[in-house]
Amino acid sequence: MINLYDKKNNIDKNKNNKDVCKSTNSSYIYNEGLKYLMNTYARQEIVFEKAKMQYLWDFEGNKYTDFTSGYGCLNVGHTNDAVVSALKEQISKIIQPSNIYFSKPQVELAKILCNLTGFGEKVFFANSGAEAVDGALKLARKYSTDKYAKERYEIISFYNSFHGRTFGALSATAQEKKQSLFEPLLKGFRYAVFNDIDSVKTVVNDNTCAILIEPIQGEGGINVANKTFMKELKNLCAEKDILLIIDEIQTGFGRTGTLFAYESYDIIPDILVVAKSLGGGMPIGAIISNNNISKSFVPGTHGSTFGGNAASCAAGVAVLNYFKKNDVVKNSKNIGNLLLSELEKIEKKYPGIVKEVRGMGLMLAMEFKNSVANQIIKLGLDNFLILNKISDFTIRFLPPLIINKKDISKLIDFLDKTLKEFNKNGKN
Ligand SMILES: Cc1ncc(COP(=O)(O)O)c(C=O)c1O
Repeated sequence: MINLYDKKNNIDKNKNNKDVCKSTNSSYIYNEGLKYLMNTYARQEIVFEKAKMQYLWDFEGNKYTDFTSGYGCLNVGHTNDAVVSALKEQISKIIQPSNIYFSKPQVELAKILCNLTGFGEKVFFANSGAEAVDGALKLARKYSTDKYAKERYEIISFYNSFHGRTFGALSATAQEKKQSLFEPLLKGFRYAVFNDIDSVKTVVNDNTCAILIEPIQGEGGINVANKTFMKELKNLCAEKDILLIIDEIQTGFGRTGTLFAYESYDIIPDILVVAKSLGGGMPIGAIISNNNISKSFVPGTHGSTFGGNAASCAAGVAVLNYFKKNDVVKNSKNIGNLLLSELEKIEKKYPGIVKEVRGMGLMLAMEFKNSVANQIIKLGLDNFLILNKISDFTIRFLPPLIINKKDISKLIDFLDKTLKEFNKNGKN
């Protein structure tokens, strides 16, 4: 039998097979990563050793400013002190007592989420966004089939949406390029055109139980739902007792300049799903609804071994307390307005290169006329800025919400300098 811990046996077989944990060499770790991890992400050739708030450092000591927040999961920044100390305290006591017992942080976090949303009376905790979406779809189906008929299980979602990678969430993610690789998907999903109420009306029928929507489509391109559309959607749902599920996994927790994006539409969801930034970097997702809907879940209907573990929930409580103490939402709104106006100046200055700037709060995108996104990301890294694309034409800006004016200037100077070069070289 192979002894995994017999270094002599395992390491001496190949002289280059160094201990990855002890290495401080980015390119060695990167190459070992390529060898041992499944090829599901287009990894950048850079490995970070540590991070604090909006900054990260690689193993070579270079300091980078983050405009991505790890796909929007670090609204309070990396390794925020409040989150770290809450975690340290919690994990030294109990990490996961098992879901047949309540834990103090789990109950505390659920109570805070209900109070913050106002409409929420019960919470189910999952480990991720996709799991929270799946759970919400199950809750909606259970509510509807309990109350009406077993055929009333159809769900409507929107073209260009993104709700996650599990089969339930993927079945709701109406993007051909993501779905076609894994067919057959779950049955009972119909798709409508975003911001088009007539399109929704053509797919609603007697078997519709829920409509699932992101207020701003994130992965789909930073497409902002308009106010009239959201109001009409809410009215349609109310009229037909269809549950409106709002996916705020990316837009939630201050990202768009209000605590939740639905607030700026003057509507409330029947079911809200959140994840990402709730955990301050720890894995967590949550489904929030009122008692009338949540009573469809009873013991045995839904669950998760790790969902709502005490460590992630303690981090969540620390995140939300940090929000309150530091007025993170206000900073998101103010700095978001500043970034938007600076990006608009760049758009005006380079009309041959920039097609459009769009978004809300600190969820913004710059679309280019040519497929320059990869090049801009690479140049960004050379200038110690971490950027992210949502297509070959579009860069998305999702910085931690605690970012400051100086960081914004660095980004704008970089974009100005880069697009000036593009202009000179005729890249328009
Ligand atoms: C709106 C939205 N819903 C769901 C998800 C899936 O979340 P997770 O990656 O945590 O499963 C994402 C992830 O990007 C998202 O942006």
